[in-house]
Amino acid sequence: MAVNIKNSAEINSMRVAGRLAARVLEYIEPHVRPGISTESLNEICHRFITEDLQAIPAPLNYRGFPKSICTSINHVVCHGIPGPKKLKDGDIINIDITVIKDGFHGDTSKMFLVGEPPVRAKRLVEITHECLWQAIRMVRPGIRLGDIGHTIQHYAESHNCSVVREYCGHGIGMEFHEDPQVLHYGDPGTGLVLEAGLTFTIEPMINAGKRHVRLLQDNWTVVTRDHSLSAQWEHTVLVTDCGYEVLTLREDEAP
Ligand code: MF3
Ligand code: CO
Ligand code: CO
Repeated sequence: MAVNIKNSAEINSMRVAGRLAARVLEYIEPHVRPGISTESLNEICHRFITEDLQAIPAPLNYRGFPKSICTSINHVVCHGIPGPKKLKDGDIINIDITVIKDGFHGDTSKMFLVGEPPVRAKRLVEITHECLWQAIRMVRPGIRLGDIGHTIQHYAESHNCSVVREYCGHGIGMEFHEDPQVLHYGDPGTGLVLEAGLTFTIEPMINAGKRHVRLLQDNWTVVTRDHSLSAQWEHTVLVTDCGYEVLTLREDEAP
């Protein structure tokens, strides 16, 4: 696996791209309300990314993806395509933003609660958030990708949830998806040893029911086979000399 270790100029460009991606999630937050369509969310993000941020929405036309963001509601695991469907009270939705600025990618997603979702939905969202942050806090030179995957899997499964295996985190830089693959399950002491200058995403998809997924006819939308709820959070992370830096940190998060 040829992983790409970034130099300090590249790291600075990744910081810029990551910060812009985070700003899109900050910007869209007040719009995520009952009654808005995912197509409208897409349009608002597209305009903000292209006009205000002077950046490129990476999903648009990526391998034929037709929109600028991914919107994944309730039992949709990932890669939901924005459309006329309107958010309703009690939904949970993941909005996944990837921007390209000066050739570098920043990739991040978060869950939004629409109105007042049931306790079991809020619990899944919180468990998935904790999976992401337990993993992030482990990142430093010398730990292995299997350590990260194992921690996520252990936390999810010990809370009676399951980890989606068909999709994973990824190295990121001038390419959207670079080596290595960052699995959200695995065994401690296995896999790539992290080194400073590596940039990658962690983006666990956690289901309230079984882990199995199905691809819809549109060839993008991934749903849980058993129609159980699914949640996902994503950050782009840099391995530093002594730990980690979250490149897509939002103002509402503590580092
Ligand atoms: N942003 C997603 C990821 O985290 C990838 C979306 S690909 C798209 O890797 F084509 F659906 F946009
Ligand atoms: Co990603
Ligand atoms: Co993403």
